[in-house]
Amino acid sequence: MSLCNYQHFILSFLLVLLLGINNAMSEPEEYNTYIVHMDHSLKPSSFLTHETWHLAILRSLSKPVHDKDMLLYSYNHAMHGFSARLTPSQASEIKKSPAHIAIHKEKSGKLFTTHSPQFMGLTHPSGLWNASSYGEGVIIGLVDTGVWPESESFNEKGMPPVPTRWKGKCQNSTINPFPCNRKLIGAQVFFKGSQAAGESNSQDHSPRDFDGHGTHTSSTAAGNHVPGASQFGYAKGVARGIAPRAHVAMYKVPGGIRQSDVLAAMDQAIADGVDIMSLSLGFKHKPYFRDAIAIASLSAVQKGIAVVCAAGNDGSPNTTQNAAPWITTVGAGTIDRSFTATVTLGNDQTLEGLSEFPNRVLLIDTPLYNGNGDSNKTICLTGALNESEVSGKVVLCDNNNSTEVIDQMQELERVNAAAGIFISDWTLYDTADNTIPTLILPTSSGALIKKYATEAADDASVKIMRFVLTSLGTKPAPQVADFSSRGPDPINPNILKPDIIAPGVDVLAAIPPTIPVQYFDNYFLASDYALYSGTSMSAPHVAGVSALLKAVHPEWSPAAIRSALMTTAYTTNNNGTTLTDEALDPLTPLDYGAGHINPNKAMDPGLIYDIDWQGYVDLLCGLGYNDRQMKAILRQSQWNCSQERIDINYPSFVAMFSAGSPNVKNFTRTVTNVGDDQSVYQVIVETTHGITIRVEPTTLTFTNKYQQQKYAVSVQMDGKASPVAYGYLKWVDQNGHIVASPVVVLNS
Ligand SMILES: *[C@@H]1O[C@H](CO)[C@@H](O)[C@H](O)[C@H]1NC(C)=O
Ligand SMILES: *[C@@H]1O[C@H](CO)[C@@H](O)[C@H](O)[C@H]1NC(C)=O
Ligand SMILES: *[C@@H]1O[C@H](CO)[C@@H](O)[C@H](O)[C@H]1NC(C)=O
Ligand SMILES: *[C@@H]1O[C@H](CO)[C@@H](O)[C@H](O)[C@H]1NC(C)=O
Ligand SMILES: *[C@@H]1O[C@H](CO)[C@@H](O)[C@H](O)[C@H]1NC(C)=O
Ligand SMILES: *[C@@H]1O[C@H](CO)[C@@H](O)[C@H](O)[C@H]1NC(C)=O
Ligand SMILES: *[C@@H]1O[C@H](CO)[C@@H](O)[C@H](O)[C@H]1NC(C)=O
Ligand SMILES: *[C@@H]1O[C@H](CO)[C@@H](O)[C@H](O)[C@H]1NC(C)=O
Ligand SMILES: *[C@@H]1O[C@H](CO)[C@@H](O)[C@H](O)[C@H]1NC(C)=O
Ligand SMILES: *[C@@H]1O[C@H](CO)[C@@H](O)[C@H](O)[C@H]1NC(C)=O
Repeated sequence: MSLCNYQHFILSFLLVLLLGINNAMSEPEEYNTYIVHMDHSLKPSSFLTHETWHLAILRSLSKPVHDKDMLLYSYNHAMHGFSARLTPSQASEIKKSPAHIAIHKEKSGKLFTTHSPQFMGLTHPSGLWNASSYGEGVIIGLVDTGVWPESESFNEKGMPPVPTRWKGKCQNSTINPFPCNRKLIGAQVFFKGSQAAGESNSQDHSPRDFDGHGTHTSSTAAGNHVPGASQFGYAKGVARGIAPRAHVAMYKVPGGIRQSDVLAAMDQAIADGVDIMSLSLGFKHKPYFRDAIAIASLSAVQKGIAVVCAAGNDGSPNTTQNAAPWITTVGAGTIDRSFTATVTLGNDQTLEGLSEFPNRVLLIDTPLYNGNGDSNKTICLTGALNESEVSGKVVLCDNNNSTEVIDQMQELERVNAAAGIFISDWTLYDTADNTIPTLILPTSSGALIKKYATEAADDASVKIMRFVLTSLGTKPAPQVADFSSRGPDPINPNILKPDIIAPGVDVLAAIPPTIPVQYFDNYFLASDYALYSGTSMSAPHVAGVSALLKAVHPEWSPAAIRSALMTTAYTTNNNGTTLTDEALDPLTPLDYGAGHINPNKAMDPGLIYDIDWQGYVDLLCGLGYNDRQMKAILRQSQWNCSQERIDINYPSFVAMFSAGSPNVKNFTRTVTNVGDDQSVYQVIVETTHGITIRVEPTTLTFTNKYQQQKYAVSVQMDGKASPVAYGYLKWVDQNGHIVASPVVVLNS
């Protein structure tokens, strides 16, 4: 049968060949990398491997592909098919193959970091660390820009032996030496797509990181303990990954982040036997059947590998990326640490503000300048200051909430000020790159210094200014980072995304020593550890916690791990209010998902919402995909759509209402008891004006572990609800388990 098909395929190519002769003289066509999904069940048995079959297909084209390097990769695990350099007419010829399912030109993606190394933080859950022996034995695979193997974070002190089930490689050569060890157990590079697109150089032939991103994310997920790490004195402490006893495998994708390379990396990671996969990069929004990361992740999840991805840094509503429901999608939050400096005025008043100025400068008894009554000078307008008036002085600049603080800093540099004090409530300035020390004061304490400067007039002075201080307990924390991508998910708004937030602002982790961190005094300063921000930084936190959970509960599915993370997350900051953004504006679960990760609680969630393979198939059926689309994503030729639904057994709910649609939405869920054998859960519903949430039954009784119970939820909207409203559905037992799910109502 399959051989038959193949002969038919050859015949149709011969036909195309004859018809194609007329075009033989037309202009040379441009080559591009195409991703080709194939039905692998149709491989003729005469081909021993899929790769030889894929090559034969390319050689049988009317304009045959003879150079076998034009076949970039054959995929067997992440998807079924291959990627190759093809012309548009070769690509459309491949569509005629009976084994062809889908073909599309590859896209380039991007890393989800904000390239400014700013503030930072890491949390260290002791309970889960102890129970999981720091993630001992779990393998985390990262698809990223490579890794710097000599970094202290990848030392193998205290590491267990490489697991015998590990099938991965360490790409080490005489030209590109790359030492692996018991911590860093695998490192490979996938550059063919990047090279074909003309984006790679010789550095990309080694898994070594020349960007910094991959070293940072992998040391965040699983770096070993390194005492005394800091970026120039800020955030000093023990640097360590979330799962310090987990093994790391790096799958490097260089250059412009090519889909063909990312697929090859994920294909290899699945084959090698990683337990957790972490991706801090992504491509433009596409439906699941066109989304390389979604397709490869479903394949990984089918094999029990939990896939954790960054949600993106778009910062506005309807922008979450990597949001397929089998992926754990991670947004970014701040932490309770800030980098500060203090100023003590001539009247002995001491004020604290923000600063990342890299040197331990101490300024003593310096005159304070405040514009001499000229408002242009008061705000340090470009060109307003007079060098002979201010040189060598501390200049007070009323920033007046202007976002042009950069210009003010340059003005101070122009006139050789000794230091600058900016008054602003806007905390996102990067003060690290200035050659003169600067401090940002909030308007509240700014008023005090202005008052003093006015009263003391020409006698105003600064007694002491101190830099390089780290202060903990900053309130409120966490906040959702302004850049963190927000829901609803543009591809499937019926599933709440992001799932969770984790630290992603000013994360201290290892970087290659060759990467400049700051520009200071005409020098680039390097550091072994640096503060980076982005959802790129929050995803590896969740990958690390997932590794710890995997170590404690090896039997948990990827959906169970995500469920435990979500139902135990918290939504209240350290000042006792609901999570806000960085301007202190209130948010909803569209911004933070189930909330901020709470690792110790996730270890013992009580109940989980599990999803098996058929659960995801039911959802894909419900999305109305056609046969080719289903085949591309499922990698199989048969599936069962008898239970199609657009909802899924997810630990969160989205009820979408539009004008004219019924005002009630019903859901069903199945929960599995992973807590004590005997437990009785009561439901608690928290809701807001205009919404009624009913749950049936209201009590769930379990008599043994792994027992399952179903319940139904109906969400009713009475027309007075706001466009985005939300509540919570919580199952609470007698032993202190609280299994919380956000219920989001969208009215349009
Ligand atoms: C640490 O883990 C061990 C073994 O898993 C357990 O016996 C011990 O009680 C744990 N210690 C704490 C403080 O939880
Ligand atoms: C890596 O390659 C270098 C040079 O070929 C060799 O000296 C070294 O032992 C290798 N290391 C490992 C871990 O294979
Ligand atoms: C302040 O700056 C503005 C804009 O550059 C200018 O028009 C104005 O004359 C300046 N005022 C003084 C007092 O210099
Ligand atoms: C700067 O200040 C000095 C001394 O007060 C004065 O002589 C000079 O004219 C000023 N320059 C300008 C451009 O205002
Ligand atoms: C500060 O900003 C406010 C509002 O934008 C404006 O009215 C005020 O004049 C500004 N103050 C100064 C000193 O520029
Ligand atoms: C400055 O901007 C911040 C953030 O937008 C705001 O909270 C604060 O009230 C503003 N302060 C003044 C004095 O306008
Ligand atoms: C969300 O974005 C998608 C495309 O990215 C668009 O089709 C959709 O209309 C948007 N939804 C809302 C509510 O803005
Ligand atoms: C923290 O909460 C207290 C009491 O509600 C409030 O007065 C204070 O302004 C809050 N602080 C911040 C930084 O939000
Ligand atoms: C499809 O699934 C349903 C529900 O699980 C089952 O009853 C039915 O037999 C399945 N159909 C096939 C063809 O497997
Ligand atoms: C939703 O559930 C309620 C009971 O909770 C039921 O009365 C109603 O008929 C259901 N509606 C739909 C559309 O299934």
